[in-house]
Amino acid sequence: MTGGVPDLTEKAQGNGPDSAWGVGDCGFVVAASRLPVDQVDGPEGQVEWRPSPGGLVSALEPIMRDADGVWIGWSGAAGDPPQPFDVAGMHLVGVGLSADEVRDYYEGFCNATLWPLYHDVIAPPEFHRPWWEAYVRVNRRFAQAAAQQAAIGATVWVHDYQLQLVPGMLREQRSDVRIGMFTHIPFPGYEIFAQLPWRRQIIEGLLGADLLGFQRHGDAANFLRACRRTARLATRGSLVRVPATMSGDARTAVAAQRQAADVSGTGRDVRVGTFPISIDSAAFEKIASRETVRARAKEIRHALGNPRVVLLGIDRLDYTKGILHRLNAYGELLSEGRLTPAEAVLVLVASPSRERVEHYRVLRDEVEVTVGRINGEHAELGNAPIHYLHQTYPREEMAALYLAADVMLVTSLRDGMNLVAKEYVACRRDETGALVLSEFTGAADELGSALLVNPHDIEGLKDAIIRAATISPGEAKRRMRSMRRRVREHDVGHWAETFLDALEQAPAPAVLTESTGQLSGS
Ligand code: F6P
Repeated sequence: MTGGVPDLTEKAQGNGPDSAWGVGDCGFVVAASRLPVDQVDGPEGQVEWRPSPGGLVSALEPIMRDADGVWIGWSGAAGDPPQPFDVAGMHLVGVGLSADEVRDYYEGFCNATLWPLYHDVIAPPEFHRPWWEAYVRVNRRFAQAAAQQAAIGATVWVHDYQLQLVPGMLREQRSDVRIGMFTHIPFPGYEIFAQLPWRRQIIEGLLGADLLGFQRHGDAANFLRACRRTARLATRGSLVRVPATMSGDARTAVAAQRQAADVSGTGRDVRVGTFPISIDSAAFEKIASRETVRARAKEIRHALGNPRVVLLGIDRLDYTKGILHRLNAYGELLSEGRLTPAEAVLVLVASPSRERVEHYRVLRDEVEVTVGRINGEHAELGNAPIHYLHQTYPREEMAALYLAADVMLVTSLRDGMNLVAKEYVACRRDETGALVLSEFTGAADELGSALLVNPHDIEGLKDAIIRAATISPGEAKRRMRSMRRRVREHDVGHWAETFLDALEQAPAPAVLTESTGQLSGS
């Protein structure tokens, strides 16, 4: 980072070496790894785009519309990006990745270096210099696209671990914009983060933001420690810690806790806070109340043989999700006769993910061997104890599965948040059902009325499953009611609003005045 304000004016005015980056006319820019759309085949075989039904999209859509916003992201396919297009009132701008970049940036540095490293090295991270070079290159492309779209004084919201260099790169070019960065996954402890050969560059990249948001207090604390240990840069700026938004109003909190960490070296205040992400809970409740979805839930139970207890796991097929731990616990319960195939069925949805990355291939084999072994040992004709589905489902089918399940099993070994836990709770309108939830998820901080487990403790996990499968209606209701209140009141709209409010409270960026090329403000 240059941190130098005057040369930024030059560049943004078209006099500097990077003048090609330019200035756009959008007041609000979202930069995320993926565009919020799925590619589908049109009636005549042409490419069409359908909005992907994520919570992030529904939270940001109204803000984007009001602020003439634009969403910058990758389509998910190698090759040239699509031309800018509009979907559901949102302007979308694609960033292209070559086939080599998909391999080195997406599969490599993002998902075989950063992903395992940030999830407590559950799988060993790989460090390769060409992957890092691809990460720098693709981050620069995103930063450039953001600069080209952002109007003077715009707000730019950058998302997640795939784009950690974007805040710094964008800041170098555009001192006039307000930059927020939210990390959706955990931020690891320093002893783990320190393994990364490019740790200093990552910290510097993140510190280009005005506000850095994390899911949990622990993530924010880990980041601050990494700043102090890694960066040790100039002592001009300061980090201001924004306490948890969970407990109240970030605005008052910002002023309350000033931590002179003096590590950003930018002469700017960088604020760091905790903003636990959530789901569009009203939308889930609505789907779950549809007659068709309720009928489908009954149909699912019927197809499973109407067992006394339906257990459910829904995850991307990822080693962070503790799928094998869950299977082992369930298998042992069957072996010990504490559950029988006549009374219990586990529906295991493991949707395909990152299938060309080695650790994901190995995991798929392990899961499928384990499912086969447990079914082989315990199934009776017409009664399989596990229904394994390596598929992806639309929200309606997910809601029907949530309604059909007496027990939801979330056993992640490390998870930034885990929105599946919140979706289950949102769908249980009649306050029945039990949630077994790993304490290593962000959701555990908010859903304290779940049956919390350490998934590494197989005996503890087994006891929790039995407790959930035999819970009294009164206890289930008490627990579910309190979790539902939390999810309803702290939905994804609340999350986005709180983050953007806190970003607005950050010190004003330097204002670039087009006519004079002068900078004003702090
Ligand atoms: O949780 C992090 C995340 O990157 C999400 O943003 C995304 O939905 C998920 O992991 C899957 O990521 P991808 O398919 O882009 O690798």
